[in-house]
Amino acid sequence: MNEHDTILMLCYMSLGGGHLAAWRDPAAPENPGLNLPALVRSAQKAEEAALHGMFIADSLALWERTPEAHARTATNSHFEPMTLCAALSQATERLGFVITGNTTYNTPYGLARSYASLDHLSGGRVAWNVVTSGNPAEAGNFGGSPVGPSDRYQRAAEFVEVARGLWDGWDDDALVLDRATGVYHRADALHALDHEGKHFAVRGPLTSARPPQGHPVIAQAGSSPAGRDFAATYGDLVLSMQPSADLARTFYREVKALAAAKGRDPEHVKVLSNTALVLGRTQDEADERLALLDSLVDPVPGLESLSLLLVHDMSGYPLDEPVPDIPLTETGSSGIQQHFLAMVRSQGLTLRQAMQLSARAGAQAFSVESFADHVEEYVTTGAADGFNLVFADLGPSLDVLAEHAVPELRRRGLFRSRYRGTTLRDDIGIPRPAPARSAAAV
Ligand SMILES: Cc1cc2nc3c(=O)[nH]c(=O)nc-3n(C[C@H](O)[C@H](O)[C@H](O)COP(=O)(O)O)c2cc1C
Repeated sequence: MNEHDTILMLCYMSLGGGHLAAWRDPAAPENPGLNLPALVRSAQKAEEAALHGMFIADSLALWERTPEAHARTATNSHFEPMTLCAALSQATERLGFVITGNTTYNTPYGLARSYASLDHLSGGRVAWNVVTSGNPAEAGNFGGSPVGPSDRYQRAAEFVEVARGLWDGWDDDALVLDRATGVYHRADALHALDHEGKHFAVRGPLTSARPPQGHPVIAQAGSSPAGRDFAATYGDLVLSMQPSADLARTFYREVKALAAAKGRDPEHVKVLSNTALVLGRTQDEADERLALLDSLVDPVPGLESLSLLLVHDMSGYPLDEPVPDIPLTETGSSGIQQHFLAMVRSQGLTLRQAMQLSARAGAQAFSVESFADHVEEYVTTGAADGFNLVFADLGPSLDVLAEHAVPELRRRGLFRSRYRGTTLRDDIGIPRPAPARSAAAV
């Protein structure tokens, strides 16, 4: 990217904290997933810092766990993201909201309608994080069996096409609102979609006028080849989760090139590096905070999470001895398993330390200085257009970001000090789409 003061910055609200033990931190709000005042405070803090948006994740089922591990897991109980977004949008004026919506188990009419409504409610500040189902337990809540990976993305593509068609079902200038003549909207301004596809049959139009942004911004975070292709086709914001700056640069180049090959302007496809972190004013403060969270990991959910990561039951081994040899899997997750095991061996970790490392979900401790260096490296060497910051803790790191790190980025000329325009599209520099029109008026 060329203009560094246009770096994009989202903060990711994992509603129970990014670190498995975040909720047990005395600095964390009580009952974080259902604590509206605390979430409002976070949104307002992000807005004070002129961050572009808040990213809200979701899952349509609890992950498979034993009852004892479930009982010690904070992320099981939280607001549904769209209803939460409706509330947070009323407590903020400029902050965007990137809201997760699942294409495997919802219907396009239902979801397109909700995003249109949220876009109206928020004055055009909504993005849709398009996900395909990665949790097999979700099928059990929707009367079906899990859908395979390639089918999921085919369905997702048709889903997004239908949603776009529905958002275009009302002309931009449809509303007349003339009390004197009694005309509410132009008679020729509503258009049926009449979509008949492999997965969906949808007539349209929606029950609300075209969203303020035309189409809510589309975000996407899949990293498989099908996920990348989807992101390059539909994503305005593409979340990159790469383990090194070199791999992030390769991902960045590939996604931009793929988007260009599809006839899109690569400048309008913004790649955000997903960065999990604890942020302290100094390195010592950050290290101490991460060590505190690690010390709070309960071995019941901790070992279960590690077992899921390593695809092997780790519960029967002594906690304070080196991690035992375990069989390697041949499944898709073996890359993660091997990468994690290599790290464990190179650092000579005990089972307890390995469990604590997995509880961090990739978070690293940054001081304000080292964080600003990291941001600078990524945006000046073609590794990212911005960041999705996944905080391990619930509150302190966001405060340090707003009060210390953002001012440091501004001092280096890397971050803006106020919002641009009123909608999320204006703010992130992605044009509002003109309606594509095929069907006749209804
Ligand atoms: C930063 C980030 C956030 C994500 N948030 C969610 C989420 O909230 N809900 C969800 O079901 N999947 C989420 N995912 C999963 C991806 O959207 C995607 O479905 C998953 O990576 C599988 O796709 P792939 O096979 O293309 O990688 C997230 C992934 C990343 C990197």
